[in-house]
Amino acid sequence: MTRETETLIRRLAEKHTLQEAEFEALVDGYTPEAAALLAAEARKARAAVYGDEVYLRGLIEISNICKNDCLYCGIRRSNARCVRYRLTPAEILQCAHEGYRLGFRTFVLQGGEDAYYTDGVLCPLIRSVKADHPDCAVTLSLGERSRGSYARLREAGADRYLLRHETADEAHYRLLHPPEMSFENRMACLRTLRALGYQVGCGFMVGSPGQTSRMIARDLCFIADFRPEMCGIGPFIPHHETPFRAEPAGSVALTCYLLSILRLIDPTLLLPATTALGTLHPGGRELGLLAGANVVMPNLSPVSVRARYELYDNKICTGEESAQCHACLEARIASVGLRAAVSRGDVRRSPAEGREAAP
Ligand code: 5AD
Ligand code: FES
Repeated sequence: MTRETETLIRRLAEKHTLQEAEFEALVDGYTPEAAALLAAEARKARAAVYGDEVYLRGLIEISNICKNDCLYCGIRRSNARCVRYRLTPAEILQCAHEGYRLGFRTFVLQGGEDAYYTDGVLCPLIRSVKADHPDCAVTLSLGERSRGSYARLREAGADRYLLRHETADEAHYRLLHPPEMSFENRMACLRTLRALGYQVGCGFMVGSPGQTSRMIARDLCFIADFRPEMCGIGPFIPHHETPFRAEPAGSVALTCYLLSILRLIDPTLLLPATTALGTLHPGGRELGLLAGANVVMPNLSPVSVRARYELYDNKICTGEESAQCHACLEARIASVGLRAAVSRGDVRRSPAEGREAAP
């Protein structure tokens, strides 16, 4: 580790931000030694806000039908080999009940942009989940929708929304997405979600095709500026039925390095150790927790559909029951000296902290 890298790490730990060029230098300054220092600082920052608690989110993959054609994604509409499914509201409620029994207090409804899930379908579903489990949070991860729709879903009781920005660099966004998708609309959706009072999650893939350290620095600046409550990052993993099939996967080590940087940018951030990290390395999620992550998302989807929600190759947990995933992750959390909390796991931040007033 150079003197410059060490100085940047110490400054980030103290001031919680850097200039874009400095973030770029920090990313380029990766060495195992720098990563160890950064992770130690990140764990300190996490402990000061969250102690040893790790939050569990029960992930329900409600549909792999998607109108979009993102070049990296295994469930893109052009993948004719993908066997499509969608869960009914009754099946989704059943998953939530099972999850509640296991100790989950947040349910994440994630899916492709499937026109079946109109507001007329989703709003009663969200109301039912909240009526059955008033002590739970409902998180949606259903892509881009209209302001009116986001408003109605929020009104029905949705607490949080995950919408990865994918990259803060517009030219890079165009490389990863078909021409009909717009960077501007994606960013506008994030601002709308925030204005409607959602706790918002953004995020990006590490090592996606065409990504440079300059682009990662832009992602970090965007996150430092936008101050989301949550941020999902995981390594890019090629899927064999996509145009990026021959591209190399992202790096586990760089993903962990970036998790530590994100923890220092915002010690209150809810930061998952993702399934993609666990897919590339058998101890990937543990490494993520050791780098400063504080959320894990065990799979609650019915086992019968799991293998079909294949965003990338070799995804883990496709054969396991919900209870197995839950127990597996509890053990992994304990193995790194942390504790799985039975809690909604809301962000520990005062509403005004670090945010501009909602427009
Ligand atoms: N590798 C890693 N992550 C992926 N995602 C989609 N496809 C891949 C892939 N091939 C991520 C995207 C998306 C989230 C649901 O999963 O960032 O927002
Ligand atoms: Fe699903 Fe380990 S988290 S089996």
